Amino acid sequence: MSNNRIGLFGFGVVGESLYRVLQQTPSLQSEIVKVAIRHPEKKRKAPTQLFTTRADELLHDESIQTIVELIDDAEAAFEIVSTALRNGKSVVSANKKMIARHLPELLRIQKESGGSLLYEAAACASIPVIRNLEEYYDNDLLQGIQGIVNGSTNYILSKVSCEQISFEEALTDAQIAGFAESDPSLDLNGTDAANKLCILLAHAYGILAAPEQLSYTGIQALHEQDAVFAREKGWAIKLVAAAKKVTDGKVAAYVLPQFVTDRHLLHTVRDEYNGVVIESGLAEQQFFYGKGAGGIATASAVLSDLSALRYDYRYAYKKLNSHERAVLSMDVFLRVYVSFDGLFQVPHELFERIEEWSSNDKRCSVVGIIHGSRLAQSDWWKQPGTSLILYPEPVVPPELLRKEPVERELVFV
Ligand code: HSE
Repeated sequence: MSNNRIGLFGFGVVGESLYRVLQQTPSLQSEIVKVAIRHPEKKRKAPTQLFTTRADELLHDESIQTIVELIDDAEAAFEIVSTALRNGKSVVSANKKMIARHLPELLRIQKESGGSLLYEAAACASIPVIRNLEEYYDNDLLQGIQGIVNGSTNYILSKVSCEQISFEEALTDAQIAGFAESDPSLDLNGTDAANKLCILLAHAYGILAAPEQLSYTGIQALHEQDAVFAREKGWAIKLVAAAKKVTDGKVAAYVLPQFVTDRHLLHTVRDEYNGVVIESGLAEQQFFYGKGAGGIATASAVLSDLSALRYDYRYAYKKLNSHERAVLSMDVFLRVYVSFDGLFQVPHELFERIEEWSSNDKRCSVVGIIHGSRLAQSDWWKQPGTSLILYPEPVVPPELLRKEPVERELVFV
C-alpha cells in the first residue's frame, strides 16, 4: 500500500504520462487513486473505476493527501487548487496560466492553510529552474535570466529554418506531438511564455506581475524577409523571455523574438527544447537545458514535486519576503530591428536613434535604439504587418547613447 494517495485532475497528455511514469516509480510510494475528468465518454488507457466526473470525490476524500492538477482551464484549476489547499492537502500543478494570474491569492491561501503548492512543471517543463532560482540564487547576484521557455514556438522556428517546412505544417506537428496548448494562439502570440516569465520573476526577483504588465509578443507576425535578414547574417531567430536588472532595484522583463548569433547559448536550443541562461554576478553564465514540452518531460517535473512533498518541501518565496524587493521597469534601451509592409509605417520619432534603414519591393526595415517604455506604452509593434526582433545583445548602455548619433543613409536594395 502506498503512503501517498493522489487525486489527479485531468487525464490529457501530461496526466496520462504521469499515470504511466508513477507506475514505473515504486520508490516514490505514491499512487493515483482517483482521476477527475470532464468527458467520461472518451476512451482512456487506465481502469474505468479510476475515473470520476465529481471533483468532490477527490477534494473531500480525507485519505487523499495530494492533489495533482493538470487541467487546461485556468479558472477551474484555481478553484480546485485553492479548495485542495484549504482542505489541508498538498498540491502540485503544471498550470502556468493559473499560477501567473493568481499567485498573490495562492500565496495567501498557502499561508492561511499551511499547505504547500509546487509547480516546477509550469515553467520549462523538465528543467528544474523554479527550485533553483528560489533556492540557489541570492537576489543580489542574479543579474539576469534569459530563456527559451516555450517549446512549441521553438519547435516551429527550428523546423521552418532548418528543415524548410512551412509554419503551418510545423504547428500541426507540434500539436500532434502534444507540445502546443489546446488554444495554440497562446503559444504563438507569446502569452504562454509571458505566463512562465511571471512565475520566474516571482522566484528570481520577488516580483509579482501579471502577464499583461510585461512587454511581450510571439512569433505570429514574423515575416519571410526577417528570416532572410537573419540567414544573411548567420543568425537564428528565437523567442526569448528575459528579465534583466537595469538600475538599482529595477528589473526589465519582456518576451520578444530575438536574433541570436551562433555563439549564444540559446542558439543551440532547438525543437521543443527549452534553455535558460542565468547571469550571475560571480559565476557569470550558467545554462539550464532540457525538454520544454511533451507529456513525459512535463510529468518528470511533476514527479520531482511529488518527491519533494515527501520531505515537506515548500517554496520559501525568499525574494518576495525580502525587504528589498525589486520592481518591474522598462527603463532600458534596446537595439531592435523592425520590419514593415510600408516605409511610412515606421514611427521613427519614437527611436532614440536609427542606425540602418532598408527597403526593397518586399519589405522595409529599420535597425535602431528605442527606450523600453516606448514599447511598454504602445502596441504599434504588435500590429499585423509589423515585426519587431531584438538584436543580439539587445541592451544598450545609456552612456553609448550620449555619443554622437550615427545615422545611416536609407538603403534601397
Ligand atoms: N505549450 C507549451 C509549450 C507546453 O509549448 O512550451 C509546455 O508548457
